[in-house]
Amino acid sequence: MASSINYHCLAYAALEVCNPLDMPTVDAAVARTGLRPGARALDIGTGNGAIAVRLAEAFGLEVTAVELDPAMADIARGRIAASAAANRIRLRQTSSGAVLADIAPLDLIVATGTTDPVGDGQLEPAAILAALAGHLKPGGWLLWGDLIWTAEPPVPVRQIFELTNRFTTHEGTHEAARAAGLEVVSAGISPQAAMDHYIGTADREARAWLAEHPDAPEAAAVRAAADRVKITFEFGNDFVDFSLYLLRKPLI
Ligand SMILES: C[S@@+](CC[C@H](N)C(=O)[O-])C[C@H]1O[C@@H](n2cnc3c(N)ncnc32)[C@H](O)[C@@H]1O
Repeated sequence: MASSINYHCLAYAALEVCNPLDMPTVDAAVARTGLRPGARALDIGTGNGAIAVRLAEAFGLEVTAVELDPAMADIARGRIAASAAANRIRLRQTSSGAVLADIAPLDLIVATGTTDPVGDGQLEPAAILAALAGHLKPGGWLLWGDLIWTAEPPVPVRQIFELTNRFTTHEGTHEAARAAGLEVVSAGISPQAAMDHYIGTADREARAWLAEHPDAPEAAAVRAAADRVKITFEFGNDFVDFSLYLLRKPLI
């Protein structure tokens, strides 16, 4: 049976990377790892599957992609099936916790914009980086992307973001990486245009679907999510950036 529509799958089906981030930036970071074809990668919260497909197609990596949301996993499944590198990608529709529990140490973990990447409800970046570091081989890489606080927001802005997420600052990410035993190899902040494209596309897709399906059973939930995201970024935009970090676990 087809999965039901939700705000995130409407938004992410229309985007390439489901974040304020473009694929060339992801490519540049992965190229910097120097990983050879056949290296093993885990893409946690693969969303529409575009990054997992890219890792397999452009870098020859053997990819496990994990996605919890059934509607999103359907989109990823379609993208993977259409890829010439589909034989190098395994999609697991489950929580990352189940995958991390039985996967051998990895050459690369990708977690971009994944709220709960360890799958245990832990939202704090420091605890997440420490846990993910434990799943890397010595010399392995973590490509970590998330919003960061760039200035202290008014209390209601912090509260609305923290309904679903926990962020730290750029300095906080460096500190968390150090504490997790990870070296920060590169760090880059997405331009405002990437944020505008991400939020604008997501909102436009959701509103277009609502205009066409005003009476759908999912309409109220889609409208509520679209309104929440729009308001969050209208008030929060001056206090957050999206940042991508390439982190490395030392060889010894
Ligand atoms: C913002 S999207 C990003 C998708 C993709 N990483 C990208 O950058 O294009 C985050 C995705 O992570 C998924 N997700 C969040 N927590 C998860 C977990 N514990 N296990 C598997 N998927 C998860 C969500 O369902 C969502 O599709």
